[in-house]
Amino acid sequence: MPNENSYEVALQKSNAIREGLAKTPEKFTMLTGDRPTGRLHLGHYFGTLKGRVELQNMGAKTNVLIADYQVITDRDTTEHIQDNVYNMVMDYLACGIDPDKTMIYAHSAVPAANQLMLPFLSLVSEAELARNPTVKAEMEASGHELTGLLLTYPVHQACDILFCKGNVVPVGRDQLPHIELTRTIARRFNNRYGKVFPEVDALLSETPLLPGLDGRKMSKSYGNAINISMTAEETAKRIKKSQTDSERMITFDPENRPGVSGLLSTAAICTGRSEVEIAEEIGMGGSGRLKKYVTEAVNEYFAPIRERRQRYENDLDYVKDVLHEGNRRANEIAEQTLAEVRDAMGMVY
Ligand code: TRP
Repeated sequence: MPNENSYEVALQKSNAIREGLAKTPEKFTMLTGDRPTGRLHLGHYFGTLKGRVELQNMGAKTNVLIADYQVITDRDTTEHIQDNVYNMVMDYLACGIDPDKTMIYAHSAVPAANQLMLPFLSLVSEAELARNPTVKAEMEASGHELTGLLLTYPVHQACDILFCKGNVVPVGRDQLPHIELTRTIARRFNNRYGKVFPEVDALLSETPLLPGLDGRKMSKSYGNAINISMTAEETAKRIKKSQTDSERMITFDPENRPGVSGLLSTAAICTGRSEVEIAEEIGMGGSGRLKKYVTEAVNEYFAPIRERRQRYENDLDYVKDVLHEGNRRANEIAEQTLAEVRDAMGMVY
């Protein structure tokens, strides 16, 4: 018997969800979200935003969370948070998230969802929290000490998912330990107090992770990302500055030529062509031709998205309305779920 929490089983379940979604999308409630620490970039777009829009348009119930409390898991400031949150809403809307179909909300605005943290914390042991590999990796990467919130944020993430009875969470492989914990919490709660929560599974992305322009992991701190919100000129500048190598002939070789290959992957995902095909076409054209090609590919793909985004930038009132309406709906759902939780626990006075 393969372990229920192995990657293979997660992948099988993810594939089963994909089939289910095609047949009965209304049975699925998706929840996913992002930390508002800066602008969303092409990695977010191709890795998850595009997929969320597809689920939304298929007819699944879709919820998108701006995880503002998660910002302080591994940093000591909430500087720019309001600006980041509004801009995140703009990125969502520009990419095709439709607020009539998808609930967009910020978790600090939903007290009843946060209150689930108390019973949920009682369902996990310190040892279970301490061995979460993603938390460990994040702590190391940030250089921050292990705060109580960093240690317990996977439980908070279970609150995010379970307050709206989410059963599908589109995530990358690094988030699987959190999904596992969410499933454990739901089961333990149901066993102890009666069934309130559903079984949760991950929907794993089918597209391989898009590397940054230099071939490393795409990250704001490496300066190797193109943001959705950049202008065509800013995009051109960023691509122009990216590091390639001295070999003129363009080939796709991620291991030995990370810069050239990162550029090729970016062009490939925007044009739907393969990296090798693009490399062969450019051939002896060198990195100058390659960069020109990538710039055009990105700017062409994102032109309509950026045009829409511009309209939201000029209408902050509308952006705020979208968020307030999402927060209002989220509060309604959270209060309902919290009432069920308190009822199951007999805390009704
Ligand atoms: N941890 C996710 C990230 O770092 C954001 C997030 C918060 C999330 N709550 C969630 C994702 C619930 C999926 C489900 O981007």
